[in-house]
Amino acid sequence: MNFTHEKPFIAGNWKMFKTVPEAVEMVQKLHEASLGLEKAQFVVVPPFTALYEVSRALQGSPVQVGAQNMYWEEQGAFTGEVSAPMLKDIGCIYVVIGHSERRQYFGETNETVNNKIKAALNHGLVPIMCIGESLEERENGNTITKVQSQIIEGLKGLEAEKVRQIIIAYEPIWAIGTGLTATPDQAQEVHRFIRSNLAEKHGNDVASCAIILYGGSVKPENSYSLLKEKDINGALVGGASLKAESFAEIAKKAIKAYEEK
Ligand code: PGA
Repeated sequence: MNFTHEKPFIAGNWKMFKTVPEAVEMVQKLHEASLGLEKAQFVVVPPFTALYEVSRALQGSPVQVGAQNMYWEEQGAFTGEVSAPMLKDIGCIYVVIGHSERRQYFGETNETVNNKIKAALNHGLVPIMCIGESLEERENGNTITKVQSQIIEGLKGLEAEKVRQIIIAYEPIWAIGTGLTATPDQAQEVHRFIRSNLAEKHGNDVASCAIILYGGSVKPENSYSLLKEKDINGALVGGASLKAESFAEIAKKAIKAYEEK
């Protein structure tokens, strides 16, 4: 996968929303709404149950599909889990790994994130690794330390050529689903740090090509100012991705910001 910085990368994480018919209706609308928006790279991330139908509905569309999670083993007695080859099989290109809701409610750690990232890469999926600090960590001045340990441990043991194939999403936990957004300055500060950390550990080439998304209450009203920041290459959108109109509107603003950067 060759990443481009020419287009903003706009991914919609639907979380545990939408039945199969609702999901298919949504992608049809999104496909229509995204026509003429070829200057953005769209990805939808439906729940597992809708992945197959969504991926079929998007055949021939530039909109791509990702999953919200996966397990690191290929197959076996792991009741309730889904593997990377299974996701590949139904047309997934991306997989979100280590979302803060998974870390918070389902016991994911940097170690499980690392295992999943390695398995995803081995099977040709592009991991979108989520990192971010809690409100308490931010208030105590520990944002950078937290994000740094998540990057270092999440990417442990990976060669530069593998790190190059990973997308990182910075999502401050206090901004997810709360309506609170990091200001463009706050977000840029962390994004700049992430890029410099990648440069230090994996080389300038990896850092300059890296796609770093911002997530946390991204909406049409703030996507322009966030995407205008130098180190913000796209958005991981939750709530506002559930409607095709707002998702496309976010992309329009992001494209404008990109053109003016
Ligand atoms: P939100 O979610 O846009 O609803 O804040 C973002 C996310 O969880 O990825």
